[in-house]
Amino acid sequence: MREHRIAAIPGDGIGKEVIAAGLDVLETLERRDGSFRLIVEQFPWGSDFYRKTGRLMPADGVAALKLFDAIFFGAVGDATIPDHVTLWGLRLPICQGLDQYANLRPARILPGIVPPLRDCVPGDIDWLILRENSEGEYSGSGGRVHRGLAEEVATEVAIFTRIGVTRIMRYAFELARKRPRKKLTVVTKSNAQRHAMVMWDEIAAEIARDYVDVTWDKALVDAMTTRMVSKPKSIDVVVASNLHADILSDLAAALAGSLGIAPTANLNPERRFPSMFEPIHGSAFDIAGKGVANPIATFWTAALMLDHLGEPAAASRLMTAIERVTADKSNHTPDLGGTATTLQVTAAVKHAIVSANA
Ligand code: NAI
Ligand code: MG
Repeated sequence: MREHRIAAIPGDGIGKEVIAAGLDVLETLERRDGSFRLIVEQFPWGSDFYRKTGRLMPADGVAALKLFDAIFFGAVGDATIPDHVTLWGLRLPICQGLDQYANLRPARILPGIVPPLRDCVPGDIDWLILRENSEGEYSGSGGRVHRGLAEEVATEVAIFTRIGVTRIMRYAFELARKRPRKKLTVVTKSNAQRHAMVMWDEIAAEIARDYVDVTWDKALVDAMTTRMVSKPKSIDVVVASNLHADILSDLAAALAGSLGIAPTANLNPERRFPSMFEPIHGSAFDIAGKGVANPIATFWTAALMLDHLGEPAAASRLMTAIERVTADKSNHTPDLGGTATTLQVTAAVKHAIVSANA
């Protein structure tokens, strides 16, 4: 029996609801498959933990996570605590401490989902957005002096290293090579940002020489937003800096139907440390506690996690179940225009897993 150790961190708001649903579905898959076991430990970290202890997680939290094979994360964010405190107290220390430098965000229109673009049909959007996840604009470098005075200065320094850019470019070309269309778009802003982004472009061109089978092009980030809307079929794999991909991937999630569907994987590709899997969305104060959060993003996230753990059969069984469920509009939660609850969608996916032949 193959065993995988999972650290589950539900976090805040709907994070708790969707991770509970995700673990429920994973348990069903485990029983259906019968050849692997998930040993799950839950960590009550997040804003409630902060209110009790003054920290989002214990000081040795990241070290504790190193003992696991993967991390299954909900969301962090609280209406009464500033977002930079919650984000830098939990999610970013995990990503940086475990060197999860590759953030993968697939975007695809699932069956039954009506995308917001008028002429867009399922198949038009099948993208893999790769976000540099360890440096760039979110390196945390900078500071403030003369606080509150008229002379106050604040800097937020984007850090790009040759090692950091090289490894993300190489991973991007590897991903593109594995896809049927073998296309990569390198997002840049080297017209206006003439230091780091010029190095970014140069390194992309250097790495490209090792991947002659991959067709690649460059797009300025502003032009990329219009291309995603007006020529979605021209896009396959996309690589972009931390900030650029943060924005583009939210747009991608919306174009594919809803934030409630979009998954992401924070990967340490060399597997020196565990990778972290989470839905893209946040804690959603507006719907938290109402039982209507869409759990599909978390289920898709669980499929990415199973794939990473070396359980491709269970991953594809889960994806098939998800697609069967989204195809039926009676399973749509309010974000998709329906009236289904989190529990109803979860029950439908479990049923689809159990009743599938293959
Ligand atoms: P959000 O993603 O929580 O919500 C944006 C909108 O999408 C809301 O109207 C929400 O109801 C809807 N939505 C999101 N997920 C949904 C789901 N599964 N089903 C149905 N509807 C869904 O983003 P927002 O409002 O900007 O942030 C709320 C809090 O979450 C903030 O504290 C923010 O910092 C945090 N956040 C945390 C993230 C993380 O932990 N990775 C990511 C994004 C935001
Ligand atoms: Mg974001």
